Amino acid sequence: MAEVRSIGVVGLGAMGAGIAQVAIEAGYDVVGREVSADLCDVAAARIEHFLGRKVEKGQLEAADRDAAVGRLRTTTALDDLAGCDLVIEAIVEELAAKQELFAALEDVCGPDTVLASNTSALSVTEIAAATHAPERVIGMHFFNPAPLMPLVEIVRAELSSDEAFETGFTVAERMGKAPVRCHDTPGFVVNRILIPLLNDCIRVLDEARVSPEDLDTAMTKGAGWPMGPCTLVDLVGIDVHVHASEALYEKLREPRMAAPPRLVAMRNAGLLGRKSGRGFYRYGDAPGA
Ligand code: 3HC
Repeated sequence: MAEVRSIGVVGLGAMGAGIAQVAIEAGYDVVGREVSADLCDVAAARIEHFLGRKVEKGQLEAADRDAAVGRLRTTTALDDLAGCDLVIEAIVEELAAKQELFAALEDVCGPDTVLASNTSALSVTEIAAATHAPERVIGMHFFNPAPLMPLVEIVRAELSSDEAFETGFTVAERMGKAPVRCHDTPGFVVNRILIPLLNDCIRVLDEARVSPEDLDTAMTKGAGWPMGPCTLVDLVGIDVHVHASEALYEKLREPRMAAPPRLVAMRNAGLLGRKSGRGFYRYGDAPGA
């Protein structure tokens, strides 16, 4: 198994920026790609903000922060990922967009580069099918917020090679994460359980006529959840959650997977949670909000 030294991250939204942050902190050279220079700057500022907070709180030496920041390069050119040993994709959750990207990455990167998708609910096998060498494609599913959540699901698609699969696992371990190995089934492990559970929570809002604040209090104080379901859906992004629900419902046809109408209406109204400044709650404009 070839050693991974440099990692490409395509898509530097909340997930991609978080993954890039974790990778530079672990000592990898990272090339982060976004579609515009402005979005590159936003992502770099976000990463520097969170690393800066770690320094202020005594969790990271200033020199280590500077070294980590020095390992990050952002670009708008996909060609700049040519030298990467592993590329992690974290773009929009649309199959066609991901397939197009993976086909392009195959042309840009060397034959040994492992190509990983951070998809939460799409089929890694279907993404891999757009390439000529599907054996090099795996899933590396990080959780939101990636710098704080230890789990990474390492997903074996139908044709993934053992080598690519184990490369993903080893890199996640070196990032200090707690990777688990699983197969490419709808929702993998956590979302197969969490998505219907969160949908149940949102349905209870209407059924029990409880407020989002009280539902969150109920689940944090009564079930020990670290954050309430409404806070969590706001963090994940209401559009992301609705999309994941729809993707799982399409595959599994279980009624609990279907997105609750309240969430669909919120998504349609542009109430996307933290990232849009308003979901179940209102948020300020600090990075990460
Ligand atoms: N990126 C980087 N750093 C961040 C961050 C982010 N997005 N958000 C917060 N931080 C940093 C901040 O610097 C913060 O410190 P500061 O406020 O002093 O600046 C620091 O982390 C600690 O933040 P908190 O005090 O909020 O940390 P907590 O100890 O309260 O834990 C938590 C936060 C780990 C997020 C905890 O609340 C939790 O476990 N929540 C549940 C999250 C969860 O379930 N995620 C999974 C979502 S499902 C998913 O991702 C799947 C997808 O496919 C849909």
